[in-house]
Amino acid sequence: MRPHPLLASAVLLVATACAGSPPAVPGADSGTADPILVEGRGVWARSCASCHAPDGSGGRGPSLRAAVQRFPDSRDQVEVVADGRRGMPAFGGRYSDAEIIAVVRYTREVLGTAFQPAGS
Ligand code: HEC
Repeated sequence: MRPHPLLASAVLLVATACAGSPPAVPGADSGTADPILVEGRGVWARSCASCHAPDGSGGRGPSLRAAVQRFPDSRDQVEVVADGRRGMPAFGGRYSDAEIIAVVRYTREVLGTAFQPAGS
């Protein structure tokens, strides 16, 4: 028996949601998104989400939800991503400085704010 086509697409939808795609950059739908953040999301999806979870809540690597508090100076966060640290691979050879800054901005400005408690 073949599954009902609607059921099949519903299953596909749920599967996609669970695999999780990283949160969209605000304005992505209307074309007003900051292109640097869009680029950062691309880097995040390709190279970071597998260890840190698509929404940055953590997995093999720690949660980055509080990256802004943890790295008050974003340059320190850029340094960890470029140079690596213990289980965290170095990405300096793989991505340009601009791409690393873009992904760091994405974690701070999109993933970080997604976790802000309501009303703050
Ligand atoms: C192979 C898994 C893996 C991948 C891929 C990975 N990370 Fe990590 N990341 C880790 C681990 C493990 C740590 C903790 C390192 C430690 O204990 O010092 C970490 C730590 C970090 C930290 C420091 C967190 C803190 O609170 O100190 C940042 C920032 C970070 N990763 C960002 C990224 C970004 C951005 C990418 C993609 C370009 C990425 N990571 C890809 C595993 C990974």
